[in-house]
Amino acid sequence: MEEVKILGIESSCDETAAAVVVNGRELRSNVISTQIPLHTLYGGVVPEIASRKHIERINQVIEEALKEANATLDDMDAIAVTYGPGLVGPLLVGVAEAKAIAFARNIPLVGVHHIEGHISANYIENKDLKPPFLCLVVSGGHTHLVRVKEYGEYEILGRTVDDAAGEAFDKVARAIGLGYPGGPKIEKAALEGNPNAIAFPRAKVNGSEYDFSFSGLKSAVLNYINGEQMKGNEVNPNDLAASFQKAVVDVLVDHAMHAVDEYKPSAFAIAGGVASNGTLREAMRSACEKKKIPFYHPSPTLCTDNAAMIGAAGYYEFIAGNRSGWDLNAVPNLKLGER
Ligand code: KG4
Ligand code: ZN
Repeated sequence: MEEVKILGIESSCDETAAAVVVNGRELRSNVISTQIPLHTLYGGVVPEIASRKHIERINQVIEEALKEANATLDDMDAIAVTYGPGLVGPLLVGVAEAKAIAFARNIPLVGVHHIEGHISANYIENKDLKPPFLCLVVSGGHTHLVRVKEYGEYEILGRTVDDAAGEAFDKVARAIGLGYPGGPKIEKAALEGNPNAIAFPRAKVNGSEYDFSFSGLKSAVLNYINGEQMKGNEVNPNDLAASFQKAVVDVLVDHAMHAVDEYKPSAFAIAGGVASNGTLREAMRSACEKKKIPFYHPSPTLCTDNAAMIGAAGYYEFIAGNRSGWDLNAVPNLKLGER
């Protein structure tokens, strides 16, 4: 089979990333320059600082990705870049870079949806995974239950009506003084805690069985902390982290399995930063086992933001004949399935 080499570029939030991916499945390099330590100082991502860091780092990150892949720009069949959704300043850095390279070298340009990237991260380590399947995308900005009908063809069954799952982790972590990003810190604290210590709500959204709501859970956590403080009781952060995490995982698994019952998919996958959470993975794995369907997830470095997933998604867009023009722009609120 002929090799189609794609240079993927990702800069939608706080990671500057570039990767070389062959035929959408094989990683030749995957370079990620994270800004997390910088944003930790402020308790969250500061968009202007993120944009400035991307522009400082992006050329070196791309150079490193090409070097690791033992390739040059002229070996690339296409440049795939995240053009939305995300923070506008950070997105513009990646989009401008990709356009400059593609124009100067006369290489096709493919704009990629960030969530399509997260879903496609599953193709890299799971060579047997092919659409159709169901995918739960849980990140800092998104919580989507998606039917992947074909490569590049999606139907959103449900989404969050308020906070994203990762956002809830980040906000609760801040409230108990664990800092940014909250997900990995809550997961670590939860290992030492009792998930049944505190009864937090499992919210349902009226009239919509696949939508999610996490803001009520976040308020319940904050109310619990305030209530205990008023009573002069000390809050056990490990019990709180474990009970909160269990509440999120229960809702995610419950909705996902409901969709499995209705749509009877041949496989189920998870994606996005929160998909690196061990408790969520185990709960999903055992729920899928009970339903007798295979369960897929990317390894943790491919769950959080990276460019390998953009190269993988870009490949399927590229072979479907999709190309972006020189007028490609950042679209901060780009919807999945739109071009
Ligand atoms: O996919 P991602 O890197 O960026 C977005 O597209 O949003 O996801 C980042 C989110 C953050 O909210 C972070 O707290 C969460 O993923 N996260 C986790 C874990 N690792 C990252 N949440 C729960 N458990 C984790 N281990
Ligand atoms: Zn992401």
